[in-house]
Amino acid sequence: MENFIAYNPTTLHFGRDVLRTLGQTVNRYGKKVLLVYGKGSIKKNGLYDEVLKQLESIGAEVYEYGGIRSNPVVQDVDAAAAIGRENMVDVILAVGGGSVIDSAKVISVAIPVEIPAWDFFSRRAMPRSAVPLIAVLTLAATGTEMNQFAVLSNHEAEVKGSIGSPLIFPKHSFLDPQLTIPVPRNYTAYGIADLIAHALEAYFGKGEDATLTDRFVFSIIREAMEYGPALLDDLSNYELRAKIMFAATMALNGMTMYGRASGEWGVHSIGHILSLIYDVPHGASLTIVYPAWMRLLRDRIPHRLAQLGENLFNVRDPEETISRFEDFFRRIECPVRLKEATGDQANPEEIFRVMVSNKAATYVHKLDHDDYRKIIELMM
Ligand code: NZQ
Ligand code: ZN
Repeated sequence: MENFIAYNPTTLHFGRDVLRTLGQTVNRYGKKVLLVYGKGSIKKNGLYDEVLKQLESIGAEVYEYGGIRSNPVVQDVDAAAAIGRENMVDVILAVGGGSVIDSAKVISVAIPVEIPAWDFFSRRAMPRSAVPLIAVLTLAATGTEMNQFAVLSNHEAEVKGSIGSPLIFPKHSFLDPQLTIPVPRNYTAYGIADLIAHALEAYFGKGEDATLTDRFVFSIIREAMEYGPALLDDLSNYELRAKIMFAATMALNGMTMYGRASGEWGVHSIGHILSLIYDVPHGASLTIVYPAWMRLLRDRIPHRLAQLGENLFNVRDPEETISRFEDFFRRIECPVRLKEATGDQANPEEIFRVMVSNKAATYVHKLDHDDYRKIIELMM
C-alpha cells in the first residue's frame, strides 16, 4: 500500500430539511454574504427564496452573483470576486451544482488577492488564503461539496483545467436529496456517470495494492449501477435520490484514494477537452471517453480490468467488462460515441490538436500522440 494522508475538514449536513440550520451556520462566519448561483434553476424551484429567508433571519447583508454557467468560465469568477472584494464579504454561500460550487471555491481564494483567478490554474500563483465557503448542493455528481478541487474553463487559453488546495474545501456543505428532485433526467444520468468515473479514475491510479480502497470503489459503482437506473425511472423518489447523492459525495472525497499515490485522471483530461470544444456536459464527456480509454489500455492493464470485471459483473474477460460499462452507460441514456453528443460537429483533427496542447492523459498511464489518434478513432 502507498503512504497517504487522510484530511477532510468539510462538515456535511445530509438529509431531509437540513437547510433549517443554514442561516445559523452562515452566521458563525459573519453577516456580509456573497450568494453565488447558476442560470436560474434555484429561482424556478423556490430554493432561492428559501435561502434568502434564512439569510434574512440572521440580518445578513447579501451581495449576489447569479448566472454561473455549466462548464463554468473564469470570467464569471473574476467578476464575482471583484464584488466580494469591494464589499469585503465575510462568507460565500454557493447554491447549485458543481459548476456553481467550483466557481465559488475559486472566488473564495481570488477575493483576498488582486490577480486574475486564472493565475491559480496556470500555476503563476498559489492560493494563500480564502474567504470561508458554505455550499448548498442541488445536483449529485461531482463530489465538489466535500473535496479540495475546482474546475474552470478558459476559452482564450483553450484549457479546461483544475486546481487543488486544502483552502477550498467548503467549511459546510448542505445536502438535502429533496433539492435534487427537480434535476432533469439527462443531468441525473450524467451525475451517475460522473460518480462512477470518479471511482474508476481512483481505481486506475497509482497504487494497486489498496485492497480495502478497491472495495470502496466496487461498492460505490455497484450502488450507482443498482440504484441509478431505478432513479431514472422514478425521478422524484427521495430514497433513490439520497442513495445517489451519498454515493457521489463518497466517490471523490478522498476515500477512494487512501493507499494510493495518485488517481489516473486521464479520462477526465480528455473529457474536459470535449467539454471545452463542444460544450459536452461533463458526465456525458466521460461516458464517451471511458469505453475508448479502456479499449486502448486493454492489453496494458488486463489484470486491473479483470479484477474490476470479476468484482462488478462476475466476468474476467477485459473486453466483456468494457462492454458491460458501455451497456450500462447506454442503459442510462448517456452517449458512448462522440457523434451522439455533438452530431457531425466533432472534428478529429481539432480534438487531436487540443489534446496535444493540453498534454492530455499524461499522468499515470501516459498516452502518446499515436494513442491520441487511436482513442479519438475509438470515440468516433
Ligand atoms: O445553472 P442552473 O440554472 O442552476 O442549472 C443547472 C445546469 O444547467 C442544472 N441544475 C443544477 N441543479 C439543479 C438543476 N436543474 C434543476 N434542478 C436542480 N436542482 O443542471 C445543469 C448542470 O449543472 P452543473 O453544475 O454544471 O453540473 P455538475 O454538478 O455536473 O457540475 C459540472 C462541473 O463540475 C466539474 C465539471 O468539470 C463541470 O465543470 N467537476 C468538478 C469536480 C470537482 N470540483 O471535484 C470534479 C468533476 O470531475 C468535474 O470535473
Ligand atoms: Zn468528473
